[in-house]
Amino acid sequence: MSTLQRKDGALAMEGVPLEEVARRFGTPCYVYSRSMIEAAYREFDEGLAGVDHLVCYAVKANSNLAILDVLRRLGSGFDIVSGGELSRVRAAGGESSKILFSGVGKSEAEIRFALGERIRCFNVESEPELERLNALAGAAGTKAAVSLRVNPDVDAKTHPYISTGLAGNKFGIPYGRSLEVYRHAARLPHLVVSGIDCHIGSQILEASPLEEAVDRVLELADAVIAAGIPLHHVDFGGGFGIRYREGDRTMDVGHYTRKLAQRMQGRGLQVLLEPGRYIVGNAGVLLTRVEYLKLDKAKRFAVVDASMSELIRPALYEAWHEIVPVTEAPRERATYDVVGPICESSDVLGTGRELAIAEGDLLAILSAGAYAMAMASNYNTRPRPPEALVDGDRILAIRARESVESLYAGESTLDKAE
Ligand code: LLP
Repeated sequence: MSTLQRKDGALAMEGVPLEEVARRFGTPCYVYSRSMIEAAYREFDEGLAGVDHLVCYAVKANSNLAILDVLRRLGSGFDIVSGGELSRVRAAGGESSKILFSGVGKSEAEIRFALGERIRCFNVESEPELERLNALAGAAGTKAAVSLRVNPDVDAKTHPYISTGLAGNKFGIPYGRSLEVYRHAARLPHLVVSGIDCHIGSQILEASPLEEAVDRVLELADAVIAAGIPLHHVDFGGGFGIRYREGDRTMDVGHYTRKLAQRMQGRGLQVLLEPGRYIVGNAGVLLTRVEYLKLDKAKRFAVVDASMSELIRPALYEAWHEIVPVTEAPRERATYDVVGPICESSDVLGTGRELAIAEGDLLAILSAGAYAMAMASNYNTRPRPPEALVDGDRILAIRARESVESLYAGESTLDKAE
């Protein structure tokens, strides 16, 4: 489902022409569709309807408070990876009892904060983390619910930078050691073993590696239970891939979750998932304006006002995002590299794009809802862009453009430095 449509040659999201969004907020600017986010969330929620389940949105994909609020209202839980994300979820009204804390490097301060908030579960990624958590829970006079993130050694068949489930990776506890670590965890006085979890990578487009991970994790869950350690939930992580390019395939989440629900029937274990990209990825676009068309002998460049500071995925992963004119107009067609104003050759948003554009035209960079604004930086002292949420025919401002002054507000010249 997409809520992006062309009406008389002009691109609209839900009921709102994107030209209108650009007029109101300027460019570059992120825009998200509320109904697309809701539809994607429901694919998981409805697919798992036959079993006790909780969909925990991976906040790192897009952590804007309004997006968290949209999901909270649907009953979503949250998968966080930092104290900062915990603060965001709480600020958006997310319930602590639906928060999972993942990540390999939880600091003492972050653990104390999460213990104080009485979050649902810590997804523990190593043995030293288990000891630290036990000690801090003891000091706080509480017990921490834990799940061990096991590394099932499954090839997610995705980009190596975002593949996390293979042996030799920094994530999780090696599969072969897991049962022993569970036995140890069950003996620690300030921990309560609650679940088991895995996450094998991101942008996974085939169900088979995910299903292989399910097999391995369930095998281990059976062994843990047989060892006399009761489990309450199994968390199969996130990683569901989306379509970035016309004609590419996508995960059939409905099919996958229905099959998973069938498989989990009668096991008495709550099913958790941690999808991020699939929920927000296709729901967002980045609006940008063409500054210059630069014609070189060898190449043509469309220099736009967005850059790798706003969207780093093409530079970092050679990721492909469709780039389309917001308003179709009779222009000469040519092949361009779409680049930003940053002083880096890698500041590319798309290469070899056939576009019929002129200077001043508005472009939409598609599938920019996940790992886009969330990974934006201030490189070249560029204020991060505003974000808008389209809800039917309404446009909500959900984040203001940063001011330049705010970027150096915490800095001092020598005469004022202490
Ligand atoms: N759970 C854990 C423990 C994770 O590490 C991640 C993502 C997720 C859930 C959510 O995965 P998703 O459903 O979104 O695939 N910046 C990269 C993606 C990094 C993903 C990191 N972990 C990109 O732009 O492609």
